[in-house]
Amino acid sequence: MNTARQPEAFVTVRHITKRYGDVVAVDDVSLTVGEGHTLALLGPSGCGKTTVLRCLAGLETPEQGHIAIAGTVVFDAERGINLMPEQRGLGIVFQSYAVWPHMTVAENVGFPLKVRKVPKDEQRDRVARILEIVGLSAWRDKPATLLSGGQQQRVALARALVYEPRLVLFDEPMSNLDALLRDQVRIELKTLQDRLGFTAIYVTHDQSEAFALAETVVVMNRGKVETSGAPREMSYRPRTPFVARFLGLNVRGGRAIRTGDLQTGLCYAEVALSDRLTLRGLIGDERPMPAGSSVLACIRKEHVALRKLPPGGLTTHGALIGEIRAAAFLGVEEEYLVDVEGVELRAVQLPIGAQAGDLVAVSIRPEDCTVFLASGETGVAATDEVKT
Ligand SMILES: Nc1ncnc2c1ncn2[C@@H]1O[C@H](COP(=O)(O)OP(=O)(O)OP(=O)(O)O)[C@@H](O)[C@H]1O
Ligand SMILES: [Mg+2]
Repeated sequence: MNTARQPEAFVTVRHITKRYGDVVAVDDVSLTVGEGHTLALLGPSGCGKTTVLRCLAGLETPEQGHIAIAGTVVFDAERGINLMPEQRGLGIVFQSYAVWPHMTVAENVGFPLKVRKVPKDEQRDRVARILEIVGLSAWRDKPATLLSGGQQQRVALARALVYEPRLVLFDEPMSNLDALLRDQVRIELKTLQDRLGFTAIYVTHDQSEAFALAETVVVMNRGKVETSGAPREMSYRPRTPFVARFLGLNVRGGRAIRTGDLQTGLCYAEVALSDRLTLRGLIGDERPMPAGSSVLACIRKEHVALRKLPPGGLTTHGALIGEIRAAAFLGVEEEYLVDVEGVELRAVQLPIGAQAGDLVAVSIRPEDCTVFLASGETGVAATDEVKT
């Protein structure tokens, strides 16, 4: 990686731990965010995402660790530094947009300036400017409760941005919005960030939201950072079976038949997933994987390629044969549940007009299959599909 092009870390979190009684909500978490960048925090319910944000904001005090924002140490357990929330210069947007019903739009948005005792004229100018940016100028004197959900969310956004914080924390800000509004607010948010240049930490359950907004995605599991990386890399080459499951990949158990280096220098494993189904995949584990090891093969649904076979025509030139178990239309693409030589896999692709009972040719490229040792897996979700 070309480190010279990486921006300076704007937010540095080092080894923070936060307990509630016996529960370790945040367990030795470290992360950095470059200036103007967005970091998305993803992970199952209860993994500690909100607690990390609350520690950053100064709403919780970790037992251990160090937090610096824009070159200022805002928290350091050893040195006894713990700045008040209002001294940390950040904005927060929560899941419930929480506009105050007895105030107008302008009063809602101007509230953070009022409590900071910004001169009245300046308050008026700043509120007008941010309302213009979020497209709510026409609503300034209306009661906030008259606004639609999406508009109220924009009020919350404007209120977080009005004093031009250099860091904005978002905790599932879109979860009360319908799909169409989400798309709209997401694009607005991206545009706002380009214009205002703030750094963001964005907590979400929704992986497509995380992937669309963030330069870096951090996946948490039971209070710890499971892995972090760029969205594409995270999605195409999951680093752990937990991440693969969390992102909804096919994860199937099997046994390594043989492993080795091919010409490419990459480490491949040949894996038996059933008596009849053998696949080749890239080894994702750093630990040695001798033949006979119990393994997990992880394959994105988009990488299980199906081709409908003509009736009676089984001339597939060595391709695997699968039988469609179920098909569900997703709006543009279709999701198929397909039995491939005794192993059920999910495939997502443009509709091929196949229905339950139809035979299909199935192909999975070795570079699209990542193989891990099954032992030592952390925080395994009970089901194959983790709905987020
Ligand atoms: N004030 C509190 N008192 C006691 N336990 C808490 C408190 N806040 C959080 N926890 C516990 O800490 C853990 C992490 O909670 P947190 O709210 O950070 O999770 P989360 O990842 O934001 O989950 P969700 O996706 O459901 O919002 C959970 O086990 C939770 O029960
Ligand atoms: Mg939360």
